[in-house]
Amino acid sequence: MQNFIFHNPTKIIFGRGTVPQIGPETAALGCRRALLIYGRENVKKSGLHGQVTAALAQAGVAVIEHGGVSSNPLLSHVREGIAKARAQQADVIVAVGGGSVIDTAKAVAAGVPADGDVWDFFTYKQEVKAALPITAVLTLAATGSEMNAGTVITNEATQEKFACTHRLLYPKTSILDPELTFTVPPDYTAYGAADAIAHVLEFYMTTTDEDAPVQMDFMEGLIRNAMRSCERCLADPRDYGGRAALMWTATLALNGLTGAGLGRTAFPMHMIEHSLSALYNVPHGAGLAVVVPAWLRWRLPQSEARIARLGQEIFGLAADAEQTVLRLRGWLSSVGCPVTLAELKIPEADIPRIAANAHALARIWRLDNYSQADIEAVLRLCR
Ligand code: NZQ
Ligand code: ZN
Repeated sequence: MQNFIFHNPTKIIFGRGTVPQIGPETAALGCRRALLIYGRENVKKSGLHGQVTAALAQAGVAVIEHGGVSSNPLLSHVREGIAKARAQQADVIVAVGGGSVIDTAKAVAAGVPADGDVWDFFTYKQEVKAALPITAVLTLAATGSEMNAGTVITNEATQEKFACTHRLLYPKTSILDPELTFTVPPDYTAYGAADAIAHVLEFYMTTTDEDAPVQMDFMEGLIRNAMRSCERCLADPRDYGGRAALMWTATLALNGLTGAGLGRTAFPMHMIEHSLSALYNVPHGAGLAVVVPAWLRWRLPQSEARIARLGQEIFGLAADAEQTVLRLRGWLSSVGCPVTLAELKIPEADIPRIAANAHALARIWRLDNYSQADIEAVLRLCR
């Protein structure tokens, strides 16, 4: 177990009937003009938009609308949000939606007070120095963005999907009502579980610390819960307990707790997946379901014992790393995730192009031990 500092400042309000608290929570920050960010359809169709605007109005917070966030959110839409927030002097960003919406909110929050271009934060040319406060209502269990400091945005002009992480970007308050996720369709429910599992596995597989028993048990527990709760939600989309377990699992999977004490870790599976999303606009969790088993297979010679432990703890296998990878892949497929590039309709002939795109991110993320050939090798196992 390595030294660590754990400091997560996001206040979580969890449970049924909690949405109206977005009003007082936002007003309590001293804010009076919110840029309200949301997606394409769900928030209006479900009536959540009306609930949130009513709660904000009652708390004395005026609303400036910025809907239309797409899945794999775009830099151009972030820039529009920044311009709107500046022109109308928004003093807070309220996000209502999934990871794409919350990530857009974070990028806008950082971009409004910035001198330079917001994309510079994603290429590490500039560091975030100030940000508007953010509050959020989560509608999809997946990314953990509701309780972390990361944002992932696609620059559609350069086809780069990059991330920015800064402590100023933690939401001040996030409201997590599992009932809001009853309407998440089966495919996105499974992609969310796949994303949460991938977040845990990045830490689990890349730590070199061999004596971190609390973290290992915690991470295995999260993977088990992601799988079980996903199965419950697919069997009954209105199973409150299942939705609640999936939501909290996804939040805990990427809020800093899993990595505490693990020393240096890395996100190689995400590095590769981001190129699938950037180039083909595939849903993040679907891309991960393809990359994760392939990466594990590629990694097997170096990490046989770790993968075998995973198989023992999750599937009850007796020291069988190869079988572990097959079982995980089989489970992902059984819940409706794609597990091959072909299922994503990505031709194998494109592998060098994808690897070149991912390698650019590998350099930014200092994954120096990944050559373009390594990335190609992983992609060739995505079949
Ligand atoms: O556009 P709307 O109508 O809102 O529809 C969305 C969208 O089509 C829909 N949806 C959301 N809540 C719903 C719902 N449909 C029915 N009922 C509901 N309650 O679901 C679709 C996907 O939404 P999106 O926000 O894109 O999904 P997700 O939460 O998986 O976010 C994915 C984005 O987050 C990034 C990914 O790369 C991707 O761009 N990530 C962010 C991270 C972070 N900030 O920490 C880490 C992750 O690794 C990830 O990279
Ligand atoms: Zn992810």
